Amino acid sequence: MAKPDWKRRLLVLAVVLVVLAVPLAWFGWYKFFREVDQPQWITGDPTMNFLYGSIGSESEAGMPYWIVVVLPRIFGDQYLPGPGGYASLGLPWEQGREFPAGFSKKTVGFERVAFNCALCHATTYRIDETTQPVIVAAGGSHTADIQGLLEFFSKSAADPRFNADTILTEIDLAYRLSWIDRMIYKFLAIPLTRKQLVSQGEDFAWADSRPRWGPGRDAPMNLTKFNFLGLPQDDSVDNTDFPSIWHLNARVQEGRTWPEEDYALEADFAKLDIDPSRLMLMNLAGDTTSFRSVVIDSALGLRAQNTPFFHQRMRDLEEWLRELPPPDYPLEIDTELAASGAQHFESHCAGCHATGRDNRMGTVIALEDIGTDPERTNAWTREAADGANAKVAEFDIQRTPMSKPERPGYIAMQLDGIWLRAPYLHNGSVPTVRALLEPARCRPDTFHRGYDVLDAGDVGFVSRSCAIASRPPPDGCELETVQPKCVPAGKGWKYDTREKGNGNRGHEFGTALDPDEKNSLVEYLKTL
Ligand code: HEC
Ligand code: HEC
Repeated sequence: MAKPDWKRRLLVLAVVLVVLAVPLAWFGWYKFFREVDQPQWITGDPTMNFLYGSIGSESEAGMPYWIVVVLPRIFGDQYLPGPGGYASLGLPWEQGREFPAGFSKKTVGFERVAFNCALCHATTYRIDETTQPVIVAAGGSHTADIQGLLEFFSKSAADPRFNADTILTEIDLAYRLSWIDRMIYKFLAIPLTRKQLVSQGEDFAWADSRPRWGPGRDAPMNLTKFNFLGLPQDDSVDNTDFPSIWHLNARVQEGRTWPEEDYALEADFAKLDIDPSRLMLMNLAGDTTSFRSVVIDSALGLRAQNTPFFHQRMRDLEEWLRELPPPDYPLEIDTELAASGAQHFESHCAGCHATGRDNRMGTVIALEDIGTDPERTNAWTREAADGANAKVAEFDIQRTPMSKPERPGYIAMQLDGIWLRAPYLHNGSVPTVRALLEPARCRPDTFHRGYDVLDAGDVGFVSRSCAIASRPPPDGCELETVQPKCVPAGKGWKYDTREKGNGNRGHEFGTALDPDEKNSLVEYLKTL
């Protein structure tokens, strides 16, 4: 009789295991993988979705929500530049929101926080010191200190206080985690996050030996080369302003073509679901012809995962950004003065900055002609472009290739919303439009960036430190250095044009206009 008894026992054991396995598997799925849609106020509105919506990176790169909440409370005094938590890093933060723009919160098993495009592409301004900041989606952030944010995370993770005891004690002050969530934080979330942040700090260590990014910039091509592709380090410095990405369709010009050897235009557009008539040169140095490629590569850089949600999001983002109108200038414009400025724009600027079949808007203006700092364009190489294309193919994602134009330079871009795009040029080396209309030797060699009060006179942001008494302009320069407003102590970041990659030379168009003509041109530029 022993045999049937064993059989029965085995059967019972199997049943018990199955009975246990099902809830265990369900539990595992529920606690670690279950995806919950973000709330309707985010997903139902394209602007909110841009500022706070997921781009599909939470499962890979999302940090446990409570850790993101309490880190500034534990380590802020030591590793943040001032009070106010993440806001002290210049991240635009709307009143009443839980996090700054650029942070997306989504439940994948547990609540996680990842970053989206708005971390670098949402900007903020104030009309004067007394008003609340206005936050503009798709503007290039001029205040966000991304290097500071990365350092905050890596320094906190390297601190011995980054442990379950300290972090759970801090969480307890705000919220009572259930026993099971507590165990998950204690044994998984906290140690794994720490490990990830420490290794992230090591991945970004190459940036320590180069000039700082400062607010509103990062090193886009070197991030791709060294972090995404793992290419050997060189000594290039490509610190670049976060560009505005609204209304990019303005750059599309009917009938325009580019050299096939530069851009591999034989790519199978039908297969890629790309309409060739919508191609335009993208990135500040024209490294690709495809909007989709830039959007996809940016999202992959944020560690978004290749899912149907991701592809839909990329498509939606592209369509929205192509059409999104730039914000109107918020102060009064002297329309008569602007109208006379339009003529100067027509004669000196439109050939590169307005649409029309024969002009150069949207094309790369070679370094010899534009004369601006060469570091950014030279940092990107054909080898890096090939590497990026191979890497994206490994993810099984189809997109038109990245490239490297034979004659490197910078794109002559549309100037819409230019009043909100200071400081100017690809590296943010010229604080105001008026300074850009002066010969390079007359432009300020240092100034403060990252302060968000508009400089209505010169168009840009207030950029002279209050600590610096006004300086007489160099001989033969007319640039008015006495601005009525200045950047208070402790605000802004000193930009030095003498550092590598920070040069403010070149683009001397319109500098020979007389002061009245410049006044009217500046007024006109506010209308774009
Ligand atoms: C960490 C900062 C950062 C994040 C996050 C980021 N970008 Fe960017 N983006 C940049 C920088 C810097 C550039 C300029 C690149 C260059 O030098 O050419 C850029 C360029 C672009 C451009 C090209 C603009 C032009 O005029 O050609 C587009 C489009 C763009 N980003 C879209 C996105 C989208 C969409 C996302 C989110 C999926 C995103 N970016 C996330 C920093 C960022
Ligand atoms: C030969 C072509 C050309 C002409 C003419 C030209 N520009 Fe530009 N412009 C460029 C290029 C290329 C850049 C980008 C350079 C860089 O970032 O290094 C640029 C950049 C700018 C920027 C900075 C944009 C930003 O987002 O930072 C402004 C403002 C500007 N131009 C205004 C003007 C005005 C005003 C005129 C006429 C007085 C003018 N440009 C004439 C090619 C031109």
